[in-house]
Amino acid sequence: MDVLHTIDVAGWNGPFSADAQAGACDALERGNVLFFPRLEFRLNEHERLLLTPDASDGKSKNVSLKASGELGGTSCTGEQASLMQHMMERFARDAARFLEALIPAYANRLARAPTSYRPVEIAGRTASAIHDDTRMHVDAFPSRPMRGKRILRLFSNIHPANAPRVWHVGEPFEEMARRFLPAAREGSRAQAWMMGALGVTKGTRSSYDWLMLGLHDGAKLDAEYQRRSPQIEIAFPAGSTWICFTDQVMHAALAGQYVLEQTFHLDVDAMVAPDRAPLRVLERLRGHALV
Ligand code: SIN
Ligand code: FE
Repeated sequence: MDVLHTIDVAGWNGPFSADAQAGACDALERGNVLFFPRLEFRLNEHERLLLTPDASDGKSKNVSLKASGELGGTSCTGEQASLMQHMMERFARDAARFLEALIPAYANRLARAPTSYRPVEIAGRTASAIHDDTRMHVDAFPSRPMRGKRILRLFSNIHPANAPRVWHVGEPFEEMARRFLPAAREGSRAQAWMMGALGVTKGTRSSYDWLMLGLHDGAKLDAEYQRRSPQIEIAFPAGSTWICFTDQVMHAALAGQYVLEQTFHLDVDAMVAPDRAPLRVLERLRGHALV
């Protein structure tokens, strides 16, 4: 399996040749991981103080920064909070600028979703099976209906002592979907409406969202699948960056500490090959529209 598409670039401004742009977009939409071994997000001397698990509030796994500027999940207050906010904002802007240079087809179509900083070591952390991201899954979130929109994520490993972030990447989306789709249910419209009205979900869950949650949970709860499904290990070194559609790429994060992550949402019709979107794959397999 050749899931990594490696691009040896060292700066966040591009520029990229038309060939490099087209190749990156094609690889991404096919479900590969774009890997930039030398693309480092550098912290300044002050920001290095933020490299401690104590930056998290202990309740959330991640420190989060909304596009509105609202900071969450951190124990930092006062000057430290402001340092955190500025560092994460700088990362969010670098990430957006980089993606727009790399894939101009998506420029103006990428919606900035929250930025996250993950200062807690993954290995040894306890979580229920459904919340355990060391198990293979595609991203789907109960409170955040996507209604078909893509989840595109850029990660930078900022570990100060060279520890890699270790992922497993699994089989292609359609193969995984063929296995778990039969047991997934589409949920009722009344229930979806009620959850939206009560604020349990941000907006109304579509059939697509019910099915994606079914795939997410189905895979995480299947111990045999977790053990035996095809997967390769990738160790993303400190000082590297990678990008993938996490709603499509089967992935698990097994070890590592200190990563920054920027999420973007993208409409299916902004893709160069929309037929590769999970929405279109699931609609084909189910035989009807899901949004
Ligand atoms: C995940 O999306 O499952 C976690 C990825 C990571 O934190 O490396
Ligand atoms: Fe995930």
